[in-house]
Amino acid sequence: MNYGYFDDVEKEYVITTPKTPLPWINYLGCENFFSLISNTGGGYSFYKDAKLLRLTRYRYNNTPLDNNGRYYYIKENDTIWNPGWQPTQTELDSYSCHHGLGYTKMSGQKNNLDASVTAFVPIGDNCEINKVTLKNNGTESKTFSLFSYVEFCLWNAVDDMTNFQRNYSTGEVEVEDSCIYHKTEYRERRNHYAVYSVNAPVTGFDTDRESFLGTYGSPAKPEAIINGSSKDSIASGWSPIGSFHVSITLEPGEEKTYIFLLGYIENKEEEKWESFGVINKKPARELLSKYQTVSQVDDALAALRTHWDRLLSRFTVETADEKLCRMVNIWNQYQCMVTFNMSRSASYYESGTGRGMGFRDSCQDLLGFVHLIPESARQRILDIAATQFENGSAYHQYQPLTKKGNADIGSGFNDDPLWLIAGTAAYIKETGDYGILDESVAFDNDLSKAESLLEHLRRSFKFTTTNRGPHNLPLIGRADWNDCLNLNCFSKVPDESFQTSGPSEGPVAESLFIAGMYVKYGNDFNAILNHLGHIDEANTVNANVAAMYDSVLKSGWDGEWFLRAYDAASEKVGSNECEEGKIFIEPQGFCVMAGIGVKEGLAAKALVSVEKYLDTQYGIVLLQPTYSKYYLNLGEISTYPPGYKENGGIFCHNNPWISIAETVLGHGNRAFDVYKKTCPAYLEDISDIHRTEPYVYSQMIAGIDAPHHGEAKNSWLTGTAAWTFTNVSQHILGIRPDFAGLMIDPCIPSTTKKLKITRVFRNAQYNIIIKNPNGVEKGISALSVDGKLIDGNIIPFVEGQKSYDVVAFMGN
Ligand code: BGC
Ligand code: NOJ
Repeated sequence: MNYGYFDDVEKEYVITTPKTPLPWINYLGCENFFSLISNTGGGYSFYKDAKLLRLTRYRYNNTPLDNNGRYYYIKENDTIWNPGWQPTQTELDSYSCHHGLGYTKMSGQKNNLDASVTAFVPIGDNCEINKVTLKNNGTESKTFSLFSYVEFCLWNAVDDMTNFQRNYSTGEVEVEDSCIYHKTEYRERRNHYAVYSVNAPVTGFDTDRESFLGTYGSPAKPEAIINGSSKDSIASGWSPIGSFHVSITLEPGEEKTYIFLLGYIENKEEEKWESFGVINKKPARELLSKYQTVSQVDDALAALRTHWDRLLSRFTVETADEKLCRMVNIWNQYQCMVTFNMSRSASYYESGTGRGMGFRDSCQDLLGFVHLIPESARQRILDIAATQFENGSAYHQYQPLTKKGNADIGSGFNDDPLWLIAGTAAYIKETGDYGILDESVAFDNDLSKAESLLEHLRRSFKFTTTNRGPHNLPLIGRADWNDCLNLNCFSKVPDESFQTSGPSEGPVAESLFIAGMYVKYGNDFNAILNHLGHIDEANTVNANVAAMYDSVLKSGWDGEWFLRAYDAASEKVGSNECEEGKIFIEPQGFCVMAGIGVKEGLAAKALVSVEKYLDTQYGIVLLQPTYSKYYLNLGEISTYPPGYKENGGIFCHNNPWISIAETVLGHGNRAFDVYKKTCPAYLEDISDIHRTEPYVYSQMIAGIDAPHHGEAKNSWLTGTAAWTFTNVSQHILGIRPDFAGLMIDPCIPSTTKKLKITRVFRNAQYNIIIKNPNGVEKGISALSVDGKLIDGNIIPFVEGQKSYDVVAFMGN
């Protein structure tokens, strides 16, 4: 069943009912000010950090699930309604929500009155603008009231949810004309405040929640609105809000537009106070003056659209499959940008108060946005590397504001170091900028311990080289990519303080997944060293990689597939010998992606086993059979009920690894089949089963063992975005940045006859046509660049050449 449709021309998903199976959200903002916005107007705003600088309050885990937002109420006679349906839930005559790139437009109609709210964060300013347009579609004049509502958060979202003994006495506001200033904590150490305004004279306002909603009222039934007038309340302590009452009369056919703005102001140090405790309103007034008129706001919206159009034009595909086109050209790249902005911090499933930036997550996210914003990717790599320790290991997470490693979580996830090589190699392949390797980067953010980025990569590689177990395979530490595979738990005595995902680092448990990474990214490291002329070192890296390859074949092959790991007692994990958890997806994907076992015929066998044992109609599950009980030697993975999350859920993140692995073997039909199964646009028709947004990936879809098989969870902030884009753009469509230039290596369904791709690569435009007259799945028989046939399938990069016309013929 569908709850909307894609509008590819406008680059929007249009939702046609407010009653989506879950809130279907969008993100506003692409610099420092961000908002989450659902299809019914729910969500919240923050500046830079969703935990520490949250402007508006949101109630996670509430009923209904989506609770609190920027709400507009219309009161005409006794009818009170919202253009986005929530929170009054008054039935609308019509409704639509257009989620576009960086903006959302919600429209509702009731009794011949049209109301639409267009929300966006303009480029260059720290505010959310809501353009509210009301139109009388009837034949009689209409007089009604418009009320707005936002609830302020007292900045630190965790403190806001917990420290009521203090917080109920700190709230302070100031009201001046059509502006509400939220200045809680201003008198203290802060130099910031929020401003909430409307560009018209108001009939009334409220800033005290209880006055507006009533002691026993709620946003669904605000007392002030029911009574028809604001109370002009001034909050003192308790819960400050912002609400305006605008009285409107519209003649038949007439429309009026109002601009509401929620802004964040951070005074410069010298302008902190006009006088003690009195906020400096100058910067707020400057901000407001930029968005007073409809044409100012329309210009800002147009600039935002241009921004996104330009960004996404860096990679486009034209082919017969419109779902493929809309994912590649619009939504997958958009989601990659959102993961750049948000990491794993703020979504409807990540509360914005928990995780900082993940080391491995950020390195992988980079794979999805490096072609869009190479400069920011460069900075991101340097920030991540600065949280590495001298021995090559790394803080698992760091704080976005301070960029310092998170000591509470610490280190010990032994895949982390190699992800730095993965991210850096992707950046160099994209940009050709080897200069990044000369940048001096601190260890553990201590500048006295700075070394070149190249030295950081050396330490990464060395960490895995030296931390190996009894089978010469990499030690897993606390976990590898699979956070929940905590194989060293076993070495801890289970007592009251026992934690399933505790910081135990064991001496023995080994990971085949890290072995695959070591071979794959070791090869990249080798290529980098060769390019730099460090030939001896490159040879040593090569020899180490070859030794790891052999160790995998010797101790990591189970007969039909690659083993997953050895636990702390050196027992096999992910083996046919195990009672449960016989086969895992991760090593099949990563070992084959690394090329392990290809020439020996093992890779093909492993992928056949994936299809045979792990595949389902909704995607490939993480493992089979799922764990039916808790295993002390496995840790958190077995805490999940069968079919959920790491215990046999369809982890969308590692499905593309299998799809890429299939392309390694030239299986274009199967690779595309795997791609389609978890790709949201192809799931639109089963939105009632899938339930999350059909325009973005979710982290997980319930596996075959779960009662709700096919139901997705944790949409938006997932490494799936980057990996699926890497898969579809570089391996299926086959436009792959390489150290030497752009490689053309498609691996597509045999039914695909023609592809047209445009790609910006190293500041040059590539116009690529791929023809597949004989319906093959892989292989280029002829490649011409600017009319000249070239050998091989890498287009040599010519410094200064700004455009390349490429025609590739597929065939054997
Ligand atoms: C989840 C993982 C996640 C981890 C983050 C676990 O509970 O299952 O998917 O990576 O928490 O800390
Ligand atoms: C989500 C985490 O963000 C990611 O780092 C991890 O690899 C996966 N879960 C699998 O556990």
